[in-house]
Amino acid sequence: MDKFNKSLFGTGFKWGVSTAAFQIEGAHDADGKGESIWDAFTAKKGKVLNGHHAKTACDFYNNYEADIDLLKKLNIPNFRFSISWTRILPGGTGETNQAGIDYYNRVIDYCIKQGIEPWVTIYHWDLPQALEDKGGWTNRDIVEWFTDYTGICAEHFGDRVKYWMVMNEPSVFSGAGYFFGIHAPGRTGIKNFLPAIHHIVLSMVAGAKKLRELLPGAIIGSTFSCSHIEPYSDSSRNIAAAHRADALVNRLFIEPILGLGYPVGDIPVLKGLEKFYKPGDEQNMVFDFDFIGLQNYTREIVKYSFFTPYVNASLVKAEKRGVEITAMKWEVYPPAIYHILKKFNAYPQIKKIIVTENGAAFPDTVIDGAVNDLKRTGYIQANLEQILKAKEEGCRVDGYFVWTLTDNFEWAEGYHPRFGLIYVDFETQKRIIKASGHWYADFLADG
Ligand code: NOJ
Repeated sequence: MDKFNKSLFGTGFKWGVSTAAFQIEGAHDADGKGESIWDAFTAKKGKVLNGHHAKTACDFYNNYEADIDLLKKLNIPNFRFSISWTRILPGGTGETNQAGIDYYNRVIDYCIKQGIEPWVTIYHWDLPQALEDKGGWTNRDIVEWFTDYTGICAEHFGDRVKYWMVMNEPSVFSGAGYFFGIHAPGRTGIKNFLPAIHHIVLSMVAGAKKLRELLPGAIIGSTFSCSHIEPYSDSSRNIAAAHRADALVNRLFIEPILGLGYPVGDIPVLKGLEKFYKPGDEQNMVFDFDFIGLQNYTREIVKYSFFTPYVNASLVKAEKRGVEITAMKWEVYPPAIYHILKKFNAYPQIKKIIVTENGAAFPDTVIDGAVNDLKRTGYIQANLEQILKAKEEGCRVDGYFVWTLTDNFEWAEGYHPRFGLIYVDFETQKRIIKASGHWYADFLADG
C-alpha cells in the first residue's frame, strides 16, 4: 500500500476542523448578545454535569486570532464555525446587533488573511431564548424567524463566505432538546417532538432557499448526525428493531429533504406529523443541497424492546459489550463510518458528502507540558482509512473535518470530554497542541 497520506484522497478533497459558537466562544453577554436557550439551560441546576456552564468556554470570542493562528500552524485549510443567532439578533427577530455582526466580520476576515476558508453553520443549537418563550421549534412562525436570520447572515457575510451549512444535526437538537429533555430547552414528549421535527425541516429548506436566492454562487449544505446501526443478533425481532432505530436515527431528516417523505412506514407515530402540515408543505420540504454533511462517531447495537425505537432502552450499551470506548462511552468502531458513507451514498439524490464531524474524546493528561494522545491519533487515522476505502469504492465523499480544534464545552457533559486536537487548560486558557494535532498537521503537509 502507498504511504497513507492526504494525496490518496485527491486534490479537491476538503480538509478541516469543525467548531460551534456556544461550545467555544464564551463572552455570553458581551457587546449586546442576547440570551440563548443554552445560556438559560446551563444556568439551571442539575442540567449539565458538574454544574458546568459556557460563560467563558474557550474564550474564542476574545482570542479568535490566536486560535486561528493555531489552525494555520496545523496546516488546516478549512475552518467550520457557527454563528450565534443572539449575537446577530439578541431577541431572535427585529433589531440587529452591529457589534455581533462586526465580530463575525473580524473572524471571517482574519481567516481569509491567514489563508483559511471559512465554512459557516447558521444554526448549531443556540436558539434565542426570546423565541423559545414563544414556543421555539414547536411554533410554526419559526420558519419565518429562521429565514430572516439566515437572510441577515447571507447579506452580511456572503461576500466572503462561500461554504454554508444551514443546520447542525437536527435529529439531536430535536430529540435531545424536545423529546428527551436532556439538552436545551429541556422539553419532553411526542407533543413537542413532532411539531419541532416538521418546523425544523421546513426551516432548513426555507433557509437554504434564502441562501440560494441571495448568494447564487454559494455552496450550500446541512449536517446530519448518523450512526451505523446493527442488530444485536440475527433474530427477526432484533433485525426489525435495528431497522426501526435506523429510521429514527439516520433517516428522519435526510429523507424528507431528499423528497422521500418522513419514514412513517417504519415509525408509525410519525403519522402524527400530518396534523402540522399546511398546503404546499410537501414541496417546501425538499431542497437540492450541494453537499450533505455527514457526522459520525460510532455504531449502535440494537435489541428488540417494546419501546423501540422511541427510547434508548433498545440500545445495547458499549460499556456492557466489553468493547473499547471513548470518554463519551461511545464504542470505538472505525468501520461505522465506512458503512454509513455507503448508506448515504446509496441515495442518488445526494450529490456530494462531506464528513463535517468525526473525532473522539479521551481522558488526556499533560505530562511535561505535552499531551501524547495516541488513542485519538489512532482513531482519526483508522476513520480516514475507512473513508478512503469508501471513496475508492466510488463513494461521493469529498471532505473531512475533525471534531474539533480545541477542547470545549460538550453540552450536557460539560468540559469533561475532551475532543480537541489542542488541549485547553480552562483555568488559564493556555493551549497545548496534542500529539494528534501534530499528526494532523504532518498529514496535511504531506503529499
Ligand atoms: C455533534 C455536535 O455537532 C457537536 O456539537 C458535538 O460536540 C459533537 N458531535 C461531539 O458530541
